[in-house]
Amino acid sequence: MTSLAGELSAIAGKAFVSEGLAEHFGQVMLSDRPDLCQFQCNGALAAAKAAKANPRDIATKIVAHLKNDARFAKVEIAGPGFINLDLTDAALTALLANSGEARTGTGKTVVIDFGGPNVAKPMHVGHLRSSIIGDCLQRLYRANGWKVISDVHLGDWGLQMGQLISEVELREIAPVYFDAAFTGPYPEFSPVTMEDLEEMYPAASAACKADPARLDKARRATVELQDGRPGYRALWQHFVKVSEVGLEREFASLGVRFDLWNGESSVHALIAPMLDDLKKRGLAETSEGALVVNIATDSDKKPMPPLILVKSEGGVLYGTTDLATVIERVRDYDPDLILYVVDHRQHGHFEQVFRAAQKARLQGRAELEHVGYGTMNGADGKPFKTRAGGVMKLYDLIAMATVEANTRLAEQGLGADYTAEEKANIARQVGIATIKFADLSNHRTTDYIFDLERFSKFEGKTGPYLQYAAVRIQSILRKAEGNVVGDAAIHSPEERALVLHLLAKADILIAAELKRAPNILCDYAFELAQKFSRFYAEHHIMSEPDAALRAQRLGLCARTLTVLSGILAILGIEVPERM
Ligand code: ARG
Repeated sequence: MTSLAGELSAIAGKAFVSEGLAEHFGQVMLSDRPDLCQFQCNGALAAAKAAKANPRDIATKIVAHLKNDARFAKVEIAGPGFINLDLTDAALTALLANSGEARTGTGKTVVIDFGGPNVAKPMHVGHLRSSIIGDCLQRLYRANGWKVISDVHLGDWGLQMGQLISEVELREIAPVYFDAAFTGPYPEFSPVTMEDLEEMYPAASAACKADPARLDKARRATVELQDGRPGYRALWQHFVKVSEVGLEREFASLGVRFDLWNGESSVHALIAPMLDDLKKRGLAETSEGALVVNIATDSDKKPMPPLILVKSEGGVLYGTTDLATVIERVRDYDPDLILYVVDHRQHGHFEQVFRAAQKARLQGRAELEHVGYGTMNGADGKPFKTRAGGVMKLYDLIAMATVEANTRLAEQGLGADYTAEEKANIARQVGIATIKFADLSNHRTTDYIFDLERFSKFEGKTGPYLQYAAVRIQSILRKAEGNVVGDAAIHSPEERALVLHLLAKADILIAAELKRAPNILCDYAFELAQKFSRFYAEHHIMSEPDAALRAQRLGLCARTLTVLSGILAILGIEVPERM
């Protein structure tokens, strides 16, 4: 079984078909009034509208079919023609035995473009959101059976590279890269470290802002780099290498990995042929010295500026490389879908690129989608900064969250007698869970205020609370070692509620995928932990004298743990062995 709602919809769909009505009217969903029923089908109303009939009459006929199915404990008409459904406990537990997977992606490929840090600039909280959301989506799509190709899409080809090259020249750090007579080979080791770059980039960028001649120099260096000047390419190579080492470490500390470490520069060779092709087909034209694709249409309600491919002074832009990257991805992977997990302020950029891709038919069968997200703000409602007012770097944030996690663990008296090493590892896991869950539990498009104190609590809807819930079940099962773990069964309202929630997993995975919405998974995990708590509060497990009941309850614990840690894994959250 893939989806419980799908399975029940198929049953109800057949009933509609036997009444000469369309199958899709049989759509069954989890009830939004669990106090009244477990599932509901509202299709009789829509079917009545379509057939110009009375909805209650249709519902009555459908109900008569469904009543023949022994798996339903209750089939009722409510209001104007809603159908309320309950399954029998036996049917629920039978379904549980083979539920849980959502196979939406069989045979399908998705490219997920996320992270997107820029060479020589430190990663900041904007990139952090892209990394956390993008990583969750890659895990979700993989779980749902898609072939996933994740690409970090480094910013390595823009003006900041020319700014740095000219900065190195002006500081006379490594004259050999600027000596036109030099024929190589260039030095093997970088003349600058990551720390140098972190200091040099803001300096160069400020100098360019203050002085048009300095900016012009940076622009020319960028064009020469793109045109392949050997010394500039060699120096740029060093910038990229040095940055990549640092970035890889940062992503690893967050538990995020990529299949591809491509960048804007990776498509350089594709750009000239792409421009030729677009010119030949009359899709690219010259406007005020620049080469552009006009993408406005008559139906546009707002102005739609053309996508600039080549600037008047030469040099390609962010949109040019993005367009060429569509060609590359289609050529290499023939994807069904390409997702761009990027700050929603870049919406206009992606609209331009997607329109140009569509106009030139570059995207193959791929659907292109910008998965935007809002800003992570500090308590003042402005983008999150360090206490000193600087840009918050990923490392600093993880360090802060780890310190907070340590405090919380101590408050709770957790891990007091563990070794320093284990404690440090738990604090790291809890710190990362704090950050990720806080980020993912908000709908991605909303801005939110990062409140470390609240997000790190062991109560409420937080990452640490869910980790602790999973750790507790692990410890119940550990204490039960040697006991039989049986199939889950239902003997009480709490068990029924828990089983129903477990059964919804596949539908939740599908919904989160369709909406590209990790917060759906967060809500599900939180409710699961709460339903488990209620079950645990009302039932004896190890102290249950009836061995069969004990085995069934242990089965329910084991199943809850599998589902909870599975969802947490999709969120990119690790469950410590103990706390
Ligand atoms: N480097 C860009 C930035 O820092 C993000 C890249 C997003 N991906 C893309 N294909 N444009 O804003």
